[in-house]
Amino acid sequence: MKANEFGEHVHIVDHPLVAHKLTILRDKNTSVKDFRELVSEIGMLITYEATRDLPMTTKLVETPICEAVEPTLAGKKIAVVPILRAGLGLVDGVLRMVPSARVGHIGMFRDEETLEPHTYFCKMPKDIAEREIMIVDPMLATGGSADAAISEMKRRGCRNIKLMVLVAAPDGIRLITKNHPEVEIYCGAVDDHLNEHGYIVPGLGDAGDRIFGTK
Ligand code: PRP
Ligand code: URA
Repeated sequence: MKANEFGEHVHIVDHPLVAHKLTILRDKNTSVKDFRELVSEIGMLITYEATRDLPMTTKLVETPICEAVEPTLAGKKIAVVPILRAGLGLVDGVLRMVPSARVGHIGMFRDEETLEPHTYFCKMPKDIAEREIMIVDPMLATGGSADAAISEMKRRGCRNIKLMVLVAAPDGIRLITKNHPEVEIYCGAVDDHLNEHGYIVPGLGDAGDRIFGTK
């Protein structure tokens, strides 16, 4: 990951596999099946980077040769929080890397005219305030949805929050770094701009529609 104009809390995962898979996602002719699989795979690859700072401890293992003290995860409690709908496409990839994570759901949609986010559902694990939170959504466009989701998690007492997206627009990154400067943002690519409908350009279109085949 290289340094970028957005500061030290923004991590652009510029890995060849991520870039290659994102290009296939962007192609409007990619099938729903392939799109869904690729979202999950890229989710897994970005999770690899987003978990780089997980605390470690050691344990004693007996190898076929001898006893050895070896590294192991310190068992930090993690919750992955998809922003519905499109965020659901990333959950499987995160859980394949962190199988013991809990899952909380937050439902949001953007008003297509005002682009304002509206929360329509929120169901979290009971101990959510004690967990490290990984909010996931394929798209960070104006940033309104992620901003509202992060604020909701803070209202619930969460203090350790990361945001993982596949494609981000500069506007969205700026909004989150302004309103939530402590949140670490992980993304697969930062695109050029937003169009007049709030879509990321070049982007990949409507992520929810492409994951669920609703258009
Ligand atoms: C999309 C996307 C984000 C949001 C990003 O969801 O999945 O949640 O838009 O836009 P923003 O940064 O401008 O808020 P959408 O509202 O289309 O709902 P969906 O997931 O149900 O398709
Ligand atoms: N939501 C999407 O699904 N795609 C965009 O480009 C912007 C918001």
